[in-house]
Amino acid sequence: MTHKIISCFTIALCLFLFLCPFVHMYPFSYSSQLDYNFYDRACPRLSMIVRYNIWAALKNDTRMAASLLRMHFHDCIVNINSVVTRCIKLFVLSHGCDGSVLLDDTDEFKGEKNAPANRNSLRGFEVIDSLKADVEKFCPSTVSCADILTLAAREAVVLAGGPFWPVPLGRRDATTASVKAVNEQIPSPFEPLANITAKFTSKGLDIKDVVVLSGGHTLGFAQCFTFKRRLFNFDGLGNPDPTLDSSALSSLRRICPKKDEANSNVAPLDSTNVKFDNTYYTNLVQNTGLLESDQALVNDPNTAAMVNSYSGNPFLFNNDFAASMVKLGNVGVLTGKNGQIRKKCGSVN
Ligand code: HEM
Ligand SMILES: *[C@@H]1O[C@H](CO)[C@@H](O)[C@H](O)[C@H]1NC(C)=O
Ligand SMILES: *[C@@H]1O[C@H](CO)[C@@H](O)[C@H](O)[C@H]1NC(C)=O
Repeated sequence: MTHKIISCFTIALCLFLFLCPFVHMYPFSYSSQLDYNFYDRACPRLSMIVRYNIWAALKNDTRMAASLLRMHFHDCIVNINSVVTRCIKLFVLSHGCDGSVLLDDTDEFKGEKNAPANRNSLRGFEVIDSLKADVEKFCPSTVSCADILTLAAREAVVLAGGPFWPVPLGRRDATTASVKAVNEQIPSPFEPLANITAKFTSKGLDIKDVVVLSGGHTLGFAQCFTFKRRLFNFDGLGNPDPTLDSSALSSLRRICPKKDEANSNVAPLDSTNVKFDNTYYTNLVQNTGLLESDQALVNDPNTAAMVNSYSGNPFLFNNDFAASMVKLGNVGVLTGKNGQIRKKCGSVN
C-alpha cells in the first residue's frame, strides 16, 4: 500500500519535472498570443453587438466616441507587474490593456477609476457595462472586458469618421488594480514632452506614437483646469502662454474665466472635435492647440516635422493612427491561463 502511494508520487513527480520545461509553450502574456479570429466560434455576433451598442451610445451623446477612446488609452498605459509561478518557474506578468480601469474600488484595493487623473474626468463606464451585459446574453463568460473596451474604442473612432483597424483579440481581465500606478504613469498635460515620451517608451511605444496618438485629441473636450494656466498666469507674472494664438486666447478666456467655479467648464480639444480628422495637427501649426502638452509637439524639434506632415496629409495620419492603436492595444496584455473573463466589468469574479 505505502509502496503504491510512493510509486504514484514518484510518477507524478517525474511527470511534473518532465513537463515543466515545456511550460514556456503555454500561452502566457505575449501579445503574439492575440488572434484576429479569437471569438469567431465562441461569439460570432460579437462585432455586431459592439457596433450596435457604440452606435446607440454615440447617437445619444457624440462625445462618447472621445470618452471611450480615452478610457482605452488609460487602461493600456497603466501597467502593473506581478510575479506568478507556473511549475517551478517564475514569470513576470505585466498588466496593461487588462480592463483594470473598469474595476470599482474594493476592500482589497483602491482602483484606477477614482484616481485623481480619472475621477470626474473619464466617462463612459456605463456604456461599457451595458455593452458587456449585452455580450453576456449571447456569449456568457466568453469575452473579456479588456477586449470589449479595445473593440469599443476602435468602433468609436470608425463611427466618428476615423480609420478602421483589425483588433487582435484574446486579452484577459486583471483581478486587481492600483491607484498608485495611475498616479505615476498617466501622462499629465503639465509635464514636459520628454517626460511624456519616457512614459510611452517604458511601455514599448516610441516618440512617433506620442505624436500620432496625441492625435486622439481630434475628439472631445478638456476641462478648464487642465489648460487654464496658459490663459492667465503662465510665467508667474500674470501673462498668458506666448505660444497660444491671441484670438484663441480670447475665446478660451470666455469659456474659462479666471474664477475657480469655471474650472470644470469644458473647451473642445480640436476645432472639429466631433469628427475624427487631422485638424488637431492643423490647429497645432496655427498655435491653437489646447493643452500645453499638445502645443509642445510643434515647439520641439524632435516632433515638429511629424506634426507638419500630419497637418498636410490626413491619409498618412489615419494610417499611422491605426498602426499606433494596434501597438497601444498590445501593451501588457494577459492571455491564456493568466487573468480571467470577468462577468461584470466593474468587479472581479
Ligand atoms: C500624450 C499625453 C496625453 C496627455 C497629457 C493627455 C491629457 C488629456 C487631458 C488633460 C484631457 C482632458 C481631461 C479632462 O478635462 O477631464 C484629455 C482628454 C482626452 N484625451 Fe488625452 N492625453 C494624452 C494622450 C492621449 C491619447 C494617447 C489618447 C488616445 C489615443 C487621448 C485621448 C483623449 C480624448 C479622446 C480626450 C477627450 C475625452 C472626452 O471628451 O471625454 N489622449 N487628455
Ligand atoms: C445619454 O447621454 C446623456 C449625457 O449626454 C446621459 O446622461 C444619459 O444617461 C445617456 N442616455 C443613455 C440611454 O445612454
Ligand atoms: C520630469 O522628469 C524628471 C526626471 O524623471 C523629474 O525630475 C521631473 O520632476 C519631471 N517633471 C515634471 C513636471 O513632472
